[in-house]
Amino acid sequence: METGPGMAIGHKDDNLSPEDLSEVLAAGTREIHEKAENTQFVKDFLRGNINKDIFKIGVVALYYTYSALEEEIERNKDHPNFAPLYFPAELHRQDALARDLEYFYGPEWKGLISCSKATKHYVERIHHVGQEDPVLLVAHAYTRYMGDLSGGQILSKVAQRALKLPPTGEGLEFYHFEGIHSAKSFKQLYRSRMNELELDMETKKKLVAEAVKAFHHNIEVFEEIEEMGKSFPREVSDSGMSHHEAMGGDIS
Ligand code: HEM
Repeated sequence: METGPGMAIGHKDDNLSPEDLSEVLAAGTREIHEKAENTQFVKDFLRGNINKDIFKIGVVALYYTYSALEEEIERNKDHPNFAPLYFPAELHRQDALARDLEYFYGPEWKGLISCSKATKHYVERIHHVGQEDPVLLVAHAYTRYMGDLSGGQILSKVAQRALKLPPTGEGLEFYHFEGIHSAKSFKQLYRSRMNELELDMETKKKLVAEAVKAFHHNIEVFEEIEEMGKSFPREVSDSGMSHHEAMGGDIS
């Protein structure tokens, strides 16, 4: 996370034009990003106010989401509007999430999980886009992977402390991008690849609308988890981050 509190997400040092897709997406999702950051679930998570039952539900939602996303990415990996963004070794999370689920649910994890309603909506949208309108798939990849590379390390640290997970990283493999040594440089590479796609402004605007939709799906999943969490007892821990700490840390 390179920006401090109050600083807009923008990439001024990278010789970019406001019409570049990376900039159109950053500007067009700024407002909804703020909304996502301010959902109760995310705020609680950042404060370390999360327990294992709720965390596990989150991992399940991520597993279904990334399974759908990566299935559609594989389908479209040679599509000219996606191919430059195909980085399976660096980005793909399905296997890491499967290992996290095995850690939390044991070897029979596959029979113990199911896809929630809000996650199902999100997954259906991803499949629809991947199969009917693959130009828009970039918006879904952007929303998840760029977000994970921006905030993941903070969330991982909070979860490890709050849930007392082993320092060896079991249960938190989702947050660990083994093939990426500098999140900052990888994000720069990803942005430059997005900007190489040959897209007109109308398509870029459609991509912004789709990314906003993807954020909304994430917010719906957070709200659903928050709702489910109300039926579990809550342990409050002191392992959270202040908003300032969360925004100021650099994971690169
Ligand atoms: C980027 C913070 C939640 C998606 C960023 C950046 C920060 C940040 C500081 C800027 C990084 C940079 O300029 O390179 C946070 C915090 C969150 C949060 C504190 C709450 C815990 C989310 C959520 C999503 C998300 C829930 C979507 C599911 C993104 C995306 C970017 C981003 C797509 C890339 C923006 C761009 O450079 O175009 N986040 N974020 N974030 N975040 Fe978040």
